[in-house]
Amino acid sequence: MNDTFLKACRGEKTDYTPVWIMRQAGRYLPEYQKVRSKVDFLTLCKTPELAAEVTLQPVDILKVDAAILFSDILVPVEAIGMKLEFSESKGPILYDPVRDSIGVSRLRTLDPEEDVPFVMDTIKLLKQGLKVPLIGFSGAPFTLATYMIEGGSSRNYVNTKRMMYSEPELFHRLMDKITDCVISYLKAQIDAGVDAVQVFDSWAGILSPSDFDEFALKYVQKIISSLKPGLPKIYFAFNGSAMLNHVQKSGADVLGIDWRIDMSDAINTLGPDAKVQGNLDPCTLFGTKDVIARKAAEVVKKGMAAKGHIFNLGHGILPETPVDNAKALVQTVHEVSSKER
Ligand code: CP3
Repeated sequence: MNDTFLKACRGEKTDYTPVWIMRQAGRYLPEYQKVRSKVDFLTLCKTPELAAEVTLQPVDILKVDAAILFSDILVPVEAIGMKLEFSESKGPILYDPVRDSIGVSRLRTLDPEEDVPFVMDTIKLLKQGLKVPLIGFSGAPFTLATYMIEGGSSRNYVNTKRMMYSEPELFHRLMDKITDCVISYLKAQIDAGVDAVQVFDSWAGILSPSDFDEFALKYVQKIISSLKPGLPKIYFAFNGSAMLNHVQKSGADVLGIDWRIDMSDAINTLGPDAKVQGNLDPCTLFGTKDVIARKAAEVVKKGMAAKGHIFNLGHGILPETPVDNAKALVQTVHEVSSKER
């Protein structure tokens, strides 16, 4: 197996900078569109043969150094009792959002083997022939809570913050339940064979640093410390660059970095022992090949100051991205980083 990604997660020397791309299996790939034209998104997530097929597409097409399980952060939320729908125009919708004590009490405990067996089946199928490490993942409790309380994406997260500030005990009770769900979900993925896990905190950045400490961080810490020692754990608090010293307390081996901070500044804040993942602006991939090469090389060179660097975008690849540019990006990262060593 190509273990460059895992070595970088552990801070070991590598021959080049490993690269994968958040949302690498997705709509920018015609091969994904073809599979997706036959089934809706949730059916795709729940059909192991198809989920495994689209997980492999970017590995074959882009030559990335890791695969990420094809699923969605909201799959376990549906499994503990909320009705979920993906609308083409509005994104995810969770019906009957959690706004009170009855809503919190109604949520079930996750039994992964019983409730989401297709996730473990997909992992087992993938592990049979995969030549690169497989990343499992979960949403972080705070991000999952925002979807569950708002009922979908939101602009100002008023319902979430209302609960945090007016009924903090209820909010913490919800977070405790979600945290237990995430722990058993990730443990089941690890038992099924994933080689690393990433916890996506896509909405952590709507919190002030002190609210992040009070309402989000301790739950991430509990998750990270509950999982198998030695297995690489990545924590990505999107839009968290203004509070990296707080994010660093998560205990994760690797921290995801978005593009709003210069990679050198992020490493300076975290210290030279840090292992980082990121952080090219996903929209760079709409530029010319020259610009992509130049900006990617810049991130590669800056990343070398860290103990480990996994190249990635600073957030998910966008559906409109030209595939050739994504391929060129992976190639550039591999070439430039081999030469720089
Ligand atoms: O390739 C991969 O990265 C693995 C698969 C993956 C998906 N979603 C597939 C997906 C992963 C890791 C996710 C995580 C996820 N899902 C996050 C965290 C990362 C981030 O983007 O911040 C979040 C917030 C979600 C919730 C979600 N899922 C939204 C808001 C949407 C709608 C917006 C959009 O991009 O369509 C989804 C749908 C979704 N998840 C798609 C894919 C490929 C598109 C579904 C389709 O095919 O129509």
